[in-house]
Amino acid sequence: MLYITFAGISKALQITIIGAGLAGLSAARTLAQQNIPCSLVSVQTSERAQSVLAEGGINAALNLMGEDDSPEQHFHDTMAGGRRLADPEAVRGLTEAAPGIVRELSALGVPFAMSGKKMLQRYFGGQKKRRTAYCKSSTGKALMTAMIDAVRQYEGTLITRYPHHKLESLILNPEETVLRTKEPDNSEELHAEDDSEHMACNGRCLGAVIRDLYSGEKIRLTGPVILAFGGPCGLFPGMTTGTTANDADALAQVYSQGVALADLEFIQYHPTTVQIPGKRLLISEAARGEGGRLFVMRGEKRWYFMEELYPELGNLMPRDVISAEMEAVVKDDACGDQVYLDLTGLSKEIWRKRLSDLHEQTIRFLGLDPARKPIPVSPGIHFFMGGIDVDRQHRTNIEGLYAAGECACQYHGANRLGGNSLLGAIYGGRVAAMTAAENFKTKSREPQNVNGFAAVFRDLGAMDGAVEYESSPQITEKICGILVSALGITRCESELTAAQQELRQLLERPELTEMDRKRILLGEAFVKCALERRESRGAHRRSDYPQQDDTQYLKRTIVRKRDPEEIRVQFMDPAGKRCE
Ligand code: FUM
Repeated sequence: MLYITFAGISKALQITIIGAGLAGLSAARTLAQQNIPCSLVSVQTSERAQSVLAEGGINAALNLMGEDDSPEQHFHDTMAGGRRLADPEAVRGLTEAAPGIVRELSALGVPFAMSGKKMLQRYFGGQKKRRTAYCKSSTGKALMTAMIDAVRQYEGTLITRYPHHKLESLILNPEETVLRTKEPDNSEELHAEDDSEHMACNGRCLGAVIRDLYSGEKIRLTGPVILAFGGPCGLFPGMTTGTTANDADALAQVYSQGVALADLEFIQYHPTTVQIPGKRLLISEAARGEGGRLFVMRGEKRWYFMEELYPELGNLMPRDVISAEMEAVVKDDACGDQVYLDLTGLSKEIWRKRLSDLHEQTIRFLGLDPARKPIPVSPGIHFFMGGIDVDRQHRTNIEGLYAAGECACQYHGANRLGGNSLLGAIYGGRVAAMTAAENFKTKSREPQNVNGFAAVFRDLGAMDGAVEYESSPQITEKICGILVSALGITRCESELTAAQQELRQLLERPELTEMDRKRILLGEAFVKCALERRESRGAHRRSDYPQQDDTQYLKRTIVRKRDPEEIRVQFMDPAGKRCE
C-alpha cells in the first residue's frame, strides 16, 4: 500500500467505527457516553442504512401481555431457533439485556405501539409468547430515527462522521503476537492457538484506511476499529431483501487481510418475499404474527400446509422450516407451483393500527391490495447468520479489532429468529464498544507514537481513481450466479463442488481487479463452509445429508484465508472450543 504524502492532523485518541447503521450508532453512542471520541465511517448516511429497512419489530421479554414471559424463555426460544449453535452465554447476555434496551429506546422517543400506557407486543416466528415490540411494520426506521438523534448530540465533539467514505483496508501489524486473557468463565477461548492461560491473536489492528468516494482522498485513522458494516448483500445483487449498497467489499477486504469468519453457510431465506426490479420485497413476518396464513392450491382447494403440518406454531414456525416446506410443496406434483400469503381475514383495525405501511407498500410495489387478494410469495435471501467470528466480548481474531451487527457472527446460530436482529445490532454494538473502550483506556495510558494509536492522517496524494479497489458488475453477476445455484435453501455436494470449481476458474480471468479477486475468494469461503458441513441444520439443508447430526456437527465453521489463496475450514464448538 502506498502512503507517500501523509500530512498528520493531530487528534485526540479515538476509535474508528466502520458502518453507521444500528450497530455502528449503538457503538458510537456507547463510546461517547464514556467520553471516548470516535470516527463514524459509512458509505451512505445513516438514514439510508440497511437497518432502516427492518420491519416487524424488536424482541424483549417485557412480560406485558399477561403471558408470563421471561428472558429465560426468550433465551430458550433463541437457542432452539438457532438449532443450539449459538454461544449460550452470549445469548443469555442478549436476552437479559433486551427489556432494558427496549425501555431505553422508548425513552429515546421510539413510537412503539401502545395501549394507553402499556407497550403492545406481537407474535413473531419461533416464539410462543407475544414478545416483539413494534412500530407498525417500520420498526427499523423508527429505531434509526431515534438513534440518529441520540448520536447527533455528540457530533462535532466526540463523534466525527465520515459519510460517503469506504473502508479500503485495515492497518495491521501481523507480526505482533498479542496474548489475551481467556473469557471470564474460563471456557476455552475461540481463537486460542494453545491451551495456556492466555491465547494468541493473529496480529494487532492499528487502524483503518478509508477512502472518500467523491474525491478519492484517502484518510488513515489510527486506533482500535469496530466493524459494523452489515451483511454481504452485494454478493447476491437483486436477490436479497437488503440493500445492495452493502456491497460486500468490506467483508471481502477484511477476510483477505486474515480476519476469521464463521458459519458462512447459514444464509436465511425469509419465507415471504416477492421479486421486484432490483431486489426482493419483504412482506413482514408481522403479517403472519397478526394472523396471515400461507396456502398452496391442491387440486381445487387451498391447502394451509403450515397449519396442518405444524399445528402448534403453524404459520409462525421459524423461517428455516417454513422456507423448506414452501420449497417442498411447490415441488409436489399434487400442488400448484405458487404459495400465497392470505391476509384477507385481517380486521380493518389491524390494517389501520398495525400494518398500514405494509398495506401501502404492497399496493405501491405490487399493485395488489392485500386486504382483498392473497399475495404470491416465495422465499428470498434476507439475513446472514454467519460473518466475522467474534467472542462474547465481540473481539475478532485480531487484537484491537471488533465486530458487531449483521457483519458479525453472534447470537443467531443456524437460524435467526425474527425480531432478534435489531436487538442483536444494538446490544452487539454496545458490547463491542465497551470492550474496545477497555482496550482504549489501557492503551491511552501508554506512550503513543504515530504508528501506534492516535491520529488521523490525510493522504494528500491519493487521487488515483483507485480502480483496483472497485469490483466489476460483470464479475459480481458471475459470482452471484454461481453462489445462487449452489447455496439455495437445499444444497448438495455435487452442486457445491461444481460451484467451487467455477469460482476457481473465474479467478483465472486476466481482467479481474484486486477487489474482484477478493470477492471471489469470499464467495468460495461461503461454498467451502457449506461443503464441509455434512448435515442439515437450520438454514443449511443438505439433500445428501438430510439429518441434523449433533454428534459431529454441533460446532461452528471457522474460515480464515491463509496465503496465497488457501481456504481452510476448521470447526469450533458454540462456546468457542476448537474441535480440530
Ligand atoms: O419479517 C420481518 O419483519 C423481519 C424481521 C426480522 O428479520 O427481524
